[in-house]
Amino acid sequence: MDYKAYNFTLLSFILTIQFIKLNSLQVITASTEVTKSNSSPYKYVTKKFTVPVDHFSFSINNTFEMRYFINDTWRSGKNPPIFFYTGNEGDLETFAENTGFMWDIAPTFGALIVFAEHRYYGESKPFGNKSFDNVKNLGYLTSQQALADYVDLIVHLKSDPSLKHSPVIAFGGSYGGMLSAWFRMKYPHIIHGAIAASAPVLQFTGYTDCQSFSRIVTSDFRAVDPNCEKVIRKSWESIKNLTSSDDGKKWISTKFKVCGSLTTNENFKTFKDFLVSIYSNLAMVNYPYATDFLSPLPPYPIREFCKFLNNTNLSSDKDVLTNLQKGINLYANYTGKLKCLDLSNPEPDLGAASGWDYQACTEMVMPMCNDGVNDMFEPEPWNFTEFSENCFSHFNVTPKPDLVCNIYGCDDLSTASNIVFSNGLLDPWSSGGVLRNVSSSAVAIIIPEGAHHLDLRGSHPADPYSVIKAREYHIYSIKKWIKQYRESFNNDTVFAI
Ligand SMILES: *[C@@H]1O[C@H](CO)[C@@H](O)[C@H](O)[C@H]1NC(C)=O
Ligand SMILES: *[C@@H]1O[C@H](CO)[C@@H](O)[C@H](O)[C@H]1NC(C)=O
Ligand SMILES: *[C@@H]1O[C@H](CO)[C@@H](O)[C@H](O)[C@H]1NC(C)=O
Ligand SMILES: *[C@@H]1O[C@H](CO)[C@@H](O)[C@H](O)[C@H]1NC(C)=O
Ligand SMILES: *[C@@H]1O[C@H](CO)[C@@H](O)[C@H](O)[C@H]1NC(C)=O
Ligand SMILES: *[C@@H]1O[C@H](CO)[C@@H](O)[C@H](O)[C@H]1NC(C)=O
Ligand SMILES: *[C@@H]1O[C@H](CO)[C@@H](O)[C@H](O)[C@H]1NC(C)=O
Ligand SMILES: *[C@@H]1O[C@H](CO)[C@@H](O)[C@H](O)[C@H]1NC(C)=O
Ligand SMILES: *[C@@H]1O[C@H](CO)[C@@H](O)[C@H](O)[C@H]1NC(C)=O
Ligand SMILES: *[C@@H]1O[C@H](CO)[C@@H](O)[C@H](O)[C@H]1NC(C)=O
Repeated sequence: MDYKAYNFTLLSFILTIQFIKLNSLQVITASTEVTKSNSSPYKYVTKKFTVPVDHFSFSINNTFEMRYFINDTWRSGKNPPIFFYTGNEGDLETFAENTGFMWDIAPTFGALIVFAEHRYYGESKPFGNKSFDNVKNLGYLTSQQALADYVDLIVHLKSDPSLKHSPVIAFGGSYGGMLSAWFRMKYPHIIHGAIAASAPVLQFTGYTDCQSFSRIVTSDFRAVDPNCEKVIRKSWESIKNLTSSDDGKKWISTKFKVCGSLTTNENFKTFKDFLVSIYSNLAMVNYPYATDFLSPLPPYPIREFCKFLNNTNLSSDKDVLTNLQKGINLYANYTGKLKCLDLSNPEPDLGAASGWDYQACTEMVMPMCNDGVNDMFEPEPWNFTEFSENCFSHFNVTPKPDLVCNIYGCDDLSTASNIVFSNGLLDPWSSGGVLRNVSSSAVAIIIPEGAHHLDLRGSHPADPYSVIKAREYHIYSIKKWIKQYRESFNNDTVFAI
């Protein structure tokens, strides 16, 4: 079977959760763009730290170097707080540059800032460029191993006597947010509190309806303009009508200026998956101000996109797709520099992309489905058998859909403490987020006007009120956790000699 990973140039965002589309057996990278712009306002020192490839057995002793970024400009006094970003599935630069909140608040806390790169991503590859060669090398790519790397790094940092009793606060967005929440749950003696933004820790079998994600994407479009949703629904039929003839296939290829040409049904499945990913990506990055990653996106990009899709009266398939193309072009070709619409050319850094695909095929099994009625997509049921077969054929692994809930907990989080789970309701990933308070100090914060971890971004004049309040709540929580740690530490000095 054909295996491809697609990267959408514009999408550039943090959350790169990707999902495997079942029918086509193709892997869609919902968004991965690494911003390595020199214009980033955030500066840091890059360091390497040696960690074991396998933290949990004594049978192998290989090690590798993980990368981390550190900024001690605001660090002040003895035992200052350490703000620790639990890196997720991508190059670390992306997270350092899109988590302005940590940088905004570090000065008032006198905090040391650390960003840690997740193993198998960026430059933290356990077996160098052979890390993805086979399951023997890939097998150490798990969230548990990544958290154990972070533990070692923190222990190392705290070997500096002036950091020995520093409180450590974890931050993360998306999968990084899942990691920061789990970090606090599993290692409360290392992590004193966690800001888990847009962390879909419940997006697992039995805990979230597989359709929730696509329903939220649909409602984001409907909220902007009900006609937009209608035209998108209609477009699937138009694609189907046109692809029934070779002329129609050619017309679509030409109209969308697709790189190469689309000829087979498989190609058109890829094309449709590409469109679905764009809609999902738009929903994730539907921020209130222009975001400028590799390419600029306008404020509230769904609104801009839907301006092209407001006419439901179009009766010809070609007219429908002509309008759709204008919307896609706004999104994929905002700079006007795109030569052709690239559905298939994987990023040179394929390793980063297939890393998540592998994780999705092992621990991170997140069921997704559409019915075409309550969502605007073509019906596509969740079929775990098929999913599992695809995983086996791509990676020689069999997914464990219950693993995450067994090891971290899903149905009973009442023993969790000192975690803020924040969720933007515009964000389709809020489907699997923690939306209710689970204990007196593991609380859920809802940001009605927020897209994907908007609260972790730096402050901006166009920020909606709800995200301003969410950030105030984060600051209040962090202060509380630091105070609590310091008090308990003072009381426990007898043990700390
Ligand atoms: C820390 O970040 C600030 C703001 O980006 C920057 O001015 C400073 O030079 C950085 N410090 C280090 C050690 O990189
Ligand atoms: C790793 O294991 C090999 C084989 O058991 C042994 O020869 C080697 O000394 C060990 N290396 C380290 C660093 O412990
Ligand atoms: C893989 O890494 C090795 C050692 O760093 C290097 O010599 C080799 O050229 C790399 N191979 C590829 C295909 O990048
Ligand atoms: C697709 O073709 C069918 C049958 O010819 C037609 O009824 C339908 O209106 C067409 N769809 C669109 C969106 O034009
Ligand atoms: C569709 O959007 C265009 C561009 O904003 C606008 O000129 C037109 O009036 C809109 N049409 C409808 C039916 O809303
Ligand atoms: C679509 O048709 C309706 C009913 O005929 C009409 O009121 C509306 O103005 C039309 N919209 C456009 C954009 O042509
Ligand atoms: C991107 O926009 C430019 C300028 O409008 C246009 O010439 C080019 O064909 C567009 N590329 C694609 C792939 O649509
Ligand atoms: C699920 O996929 C398996 C394997 O591809 C297939 O045999 C089975 O019929 C599918 N089940 C449903 C309900 O479609
Ligand atoms: C959770 O508790 C906090 C603090 O008491 C409160 O502000 C927040 O509204 C609660 N969240 C939900 C979803 O009830
Ligand atoms: C530490 O001791 C102080 C003073 O006795 C007390 O108020 C505080 O609650 C204690 N803190 C903890 C976490 O036990």
